[in-house]
Amino acid sequence: MTQTVATWQDEVHRLARERDAVVLAHNYMTPEIQDVADHVGDSLALSRIAAQTDASTIVFCGVHFMAETAKILSPGKTVLVPTELAGCSLADTIDVEQLRAWKAEHPGAAVVAYVNTSAAVKAESDICCTSSNAVEVVESIPREQEVLFLPDQFLGAHVRRQTGRDNIQVWLGECHVHAGISPTDVRAQVAAHPDAELLVHPECGCANSAIWLAGEGELPMGRTQILSTGGMVDAARGMTSRTALVATEIGMLHQLRKVNQHTTFLPMNPKASCRYMKMTTPDLLLRALREGRDEVEVPVDVAAKARNAVERMIAIGQSGGGE
Ligand code: 13P
Ligand code: SF4
Repeated sequence: MTQTVATWQDEVHRLARERDAVVLAHNYMTPEIQDVADHVGDSLALSRIAAQTDASTIVFCGVHFMAETAKILSPGKTVLVPTELAGCSLADTIDVEQLRAWKAEHPGAAVVAYVNTSAAVKAESDICCTSSNAVEVVESIPREQEVLFLPDQFLGAHVRRQTGRDNIQVWLGECHVHAGISPTDVRAQVAAHPDAELLVHPECGCANSAIWLAGEGELPMGRTQILSTGGMVDAARGMTSRTALVATEIGMLHQLRKVNQHTTFLPMNPKASCRYMKMTTPDLLLRALREGRDEVEVPVDVAAKARNAVERMIAIGQSGGGE
């Protein structure tokens, strides 16, 4: 009689069943974590799944602010993150004291916080957004009202451009991974792959110049798209070109290659790897499921204040981005 050997993936599924847990993974996780998860997606899609799931425990394979957002939306559920050390350099660019001081300088302004922020910053904000609905979120605010957009300067510039509003103040934060994907990388890769489509995350340092270069005719305007990670997966599904250059964290390539085997997806900068996203390993995922750690807690008063901003966010914008 042959005996089947249980793999770590079997063990994840067994422990998740035992704990009544759903395993969510962001598009930047390593391929092995993406493949073992129940759902993979962008931050908006995963927030929506976290808000709707029947499971009593959510294991969030992503970074800490994502798990915190799930806890804000589902305070009665247990939310686990495989390691609480998985932070975000962009979220760290603004704290609640800095936001209060900024608000005091702009009385009457609406505060739009990108989801890459701490729960305390969300609690001081009027509405949150992700890269997939930032433009719609800002368009939901009366045109004459000033907007404080934080913390990502490149996403803020993208929103300014898309909405055509000049009353948007933008915090000068950036993500070290996306800021590192430079216009020089774009020029070199486009020269090497002149027929490629371009998928660019709006957090990228190159996003503004990509649009500018497209406008100048240096990049293919019809083949350059600024998209969230979930938007990239949707765009890849229908793609017919032979090559696509992808300007975001390299974990993204796994889902793109899964949904479209015809197109060759290449990183705009192969060094664009987020060390926080790569902290989640199979061992830490197993530890989370076995030992119930690291549990994410948000103080009740902070969560109550932040919930309004996060619920407004998940009500706005496209509903794709995850599966
Ligand atoms: P998405 O919302 O596009 O998934 O991006 C999240 C993120 O952290 C980008 O760095
Ligand atoms: Fe934060 Fe950048 Fe990592 Fe996204 S890629 S989690 S914004 S540090």
